[in-house]
Amino acid sequence: METKRWNVWNEQDKSIDEAAELLKNGRTVAFPTETVYGLGADATNEKAVAQIFQAKGRPQDNPLIAHVATKEQLGRLVTTIPPYVDKLIDAFSPGPITYVLQSNGVCAENVTAGLSSIGVRMPDHPIAQALLKACDLPIAAPSANISGKPSPTTANHVWEDLQGKIAGLLDGGPTGVGVESTVIDCTQEIPIILRPGGVTKEQLEAVVGTVVVDPALANDEGKPKAPGMKYRHYSPEVPLLLVEGSAEKIQAVIHHEQDLNKKVAVLASNQTAARLNADKVQALGNSITEIAAHLYDGLRMFKQADVDVIVCEAFSEQGMGLAVMNRLRKAASETV
Ligand code: TXA
Ligand code: MG
Repeated sequence: METKRWNVWNEQDKSIDEAAELLKNGRTVAFPTETVYGLGADATNEKAVAQIFQAKGRPQDNPLIAHVATKEQLGRLVTTIPPYVDKLIDAFSPGPITYVLQSNGVCAENVTAGLSSIGVRMPDHPIAQALLKACDLPIAAPSANISGKPSPTTANHVWEDLQGKIAGLLDGGPTGVGVESTVIDCTQEIPIILRPGGVTKEQLEAVVGTVVVDPALANDEGKPKAPGMKYRHYSPEVPLLLVEGSAEKIQAVIHHEQDLNKKVAVLASNQTAARLNADKVQALGNSITEIAAHLYDGLRMFKQADVDVIVCEAFSEQGMGLAVMNRLRKAASETV
């Protein structure tokens, strides 16, 4: 199919109405959110949702997030909103957080992959908000990448993966946060982080007290409660070595790989990158927030034609570092 691509200059752009028409007609449209680009379809239309799974090559048992513009629309998809979720919504939505709640069955069954719960999120991006309002539908949207690859933070990433497989792409420039939303199970008395993301554990705890991190995230044996967390993910084209330790240790790993006749690319913070020598050095930013924003572009940047291996610095798991390290551990073929 031919993919229509629009440059969107602002939230009044008429391309948003054209994209909303496609969605209402059961077609797929990729759009920017504040985290990553999403691939949207009408969440109440089973056939439309099926096209998302097909375009991405996504496993059928991995549920999708339903996106809405307002709290009122969110309330139309779930049985109840527990009091602590009310507090979280007031504090963080619209924003990079997804609430897993009891579904009331309004969304098509393939959105939830047969689960009784549903993930719902209000994105904080003017184009996403305008699109959701224009179509006045809940929009199911996973990240707009081929399953297994790093999520897209620019329209070009989406184009590279899905051109010809989707009906439309709204290009609103690079996304801001750079890692996906925090997925939080709100079906229990104490909220459980199923996927760390744009809202940190520390921020959540400041609003609702104790928050648990799904223990399955810490090891490979447990069965994660977010079905998507069990799959290989975020994989760059070439193997990635995650190195925990000082710049000296990272440099030693680079030399070791070069001694094996490999071309080495490095991803690191600005401070560490300045101290390293490799065939290619890509600095990701000064702070962990900047590093998160540039992470997926960094993972997508190096192709087999350029390098044989990517060496990446491991970061502290404080704040946004928890989400960054969760993605890097999945992207890595080896941790040193
Ligand atoms: O930031 C984001 O969340 C982006 C943008 C586009 O909104 N979306 C996104 O969707 O990352 P996706 O499909 O790539 O990741 C959704 C994650 C998966 O790990 C999935 O298993 C989990 O959320 N999830 C969705 N519904 C769930 C449910 N009912 N119970 C448990 N986990 C769920
Ligand atoms: Mg994804």
